[in-house]
Amino acid sequence: MLILGIESSCDDMAAAVVKDGRFILSSIVSTQDVIHHKYGGIVPELASRRHLETIIPVVKEALEQAGVTLDDIDAIGVTQGPGLVGSILIGLSFAKAIAYVKDIPFVGVNHIQAHPMAVFLEDRVKGQGSRVKGKAENEKVGSYEDKNFLSSQSPCPLPLAPAFPFIALVVSGGHTTLFKFRDFCDCEILGQTRDDAAGEAFDKVAKLLGLGYPGGVVIDRLAKTGDPSKIEFTRPYISKDSLDFSFSGIKTAVLHWVKGQGSRVRGQGENKLAPCPLPLAPVLNDLAAGFQEAVVDVLTEKAVSACRANNVRDLVVSGGVACNSRLREKLMAKARDNGIRPFLPDAGLCSDNGAMIAATAYHLLKKGARGGLDMNAMPNL
Ligand code: KG4
Ligand code: ZN
Repeated sequence: MLILGIESSCDDMAAAVVKDGRFILSSIVSTQDVIHHKYGGIVPELASRRHLETIIPVVKEALEQAGVTLDDIDAIGVTQGPGLVGSILIGLSFAKAIAYVKDIPFVGVNHIQAHPMAVFLEDRVKGQGSRVKGKAENEKVGSYEDKNFLSSQSPCPLPLAPAFPFIALVVSGGHTTLFKFRDFCDCEILGQTRDDAAGEAFDKVAKLLGLGYPGGVVIDRLAKTGDPSKIEFTRPYISKDSLDFSFSGIKTAVLHWVKGQGSRVRGQGENKLAPCPLPLAPVLNDLAAGFQEAVVDVLTEKAVSACRANNVRDLVVSGGVACNSRLREKLMAKARDNGIRPFLPDAGLCSDNGAMIAATAYHLLKKGARGGLDMNAMPNL
């Protein structure tokens, strides 16, 4: 079954053609970073206006790259929410129009629940699997269930997929959520952010440091040459057993540090309050590393706690922040230390893409879901 997946919930316009919910025949993403960079965040009206211009070329390119035409497409999956209403409406209206004209089914997809589905995708364009698998210590590869392997006749042998039930941490610009997935399209929320999403915290900190939008990549890069122990921030665990998150406090702590209100720099005397060493340039990397380390520690700790509390051994991490190099490194290490198998999609499949929407649509369609032509956008889904 060939599914065209369309994703337009925020500032990326993405389309992909996916076969049988698994094989990526094409995946095209048109980003708008250049447009929003100077505002330090997404301007919703600019995002939807740009979507209007890009949706047709992006879908055309996805079809061309897959070597198919609209006549070959069996169904369409499209993001119904959550996200920016104007942005969602562009993709949704377009998907409905194609479904109507071609008389094929379409389904609305929950963007957040679609992120972890990236772990089941195989990229035939690149000829490699999407997943980075971390083998849990004291576990032999041979012990994985056979059902998690594709047949050996497959042109490119597939790496392993997580087994249900698994825990999924979705870390994106708008959401930080821990799910327990019992099956495809069957999940419950175990915890979520009470204020800022992790990606939002990265973006806001980057903005206050004058680093532009999106901020996660820049902070990731700067932090590579910074020392996270030079400027430390309190880790907001909320409470020992809580699987909820709260990142607005760290963001405010960075702001206070920058303003010189109560910063404590190691090496300048125990608990000594240092005046803010503006200009920031000499300490920017340490500041980025200190902030990033605090966020990464909380995400890692809670993801592993969720696995332990639910007695689940497979952990999927996806969403734009899952591209963060330090998060990937720490998650892999901590998961292995705890006998948990971590699954992280390739960076290109962690951030917004149409393939994860198509993969989710495949399973929804298999379960009998069908979208009606009166379907509306659900920005708060
Ligand atoms: O999932 P995504 O592409 O879009 C949403 O659904 O929000 O996530 C975008 C978010 C942005 O906040 C961006 O700053 C963050 O992911 N991000 C990163 C990195 N790459 C993207 N955050 C930290 N480190 C990165 N390397
Ligand atoms: Zn996303």
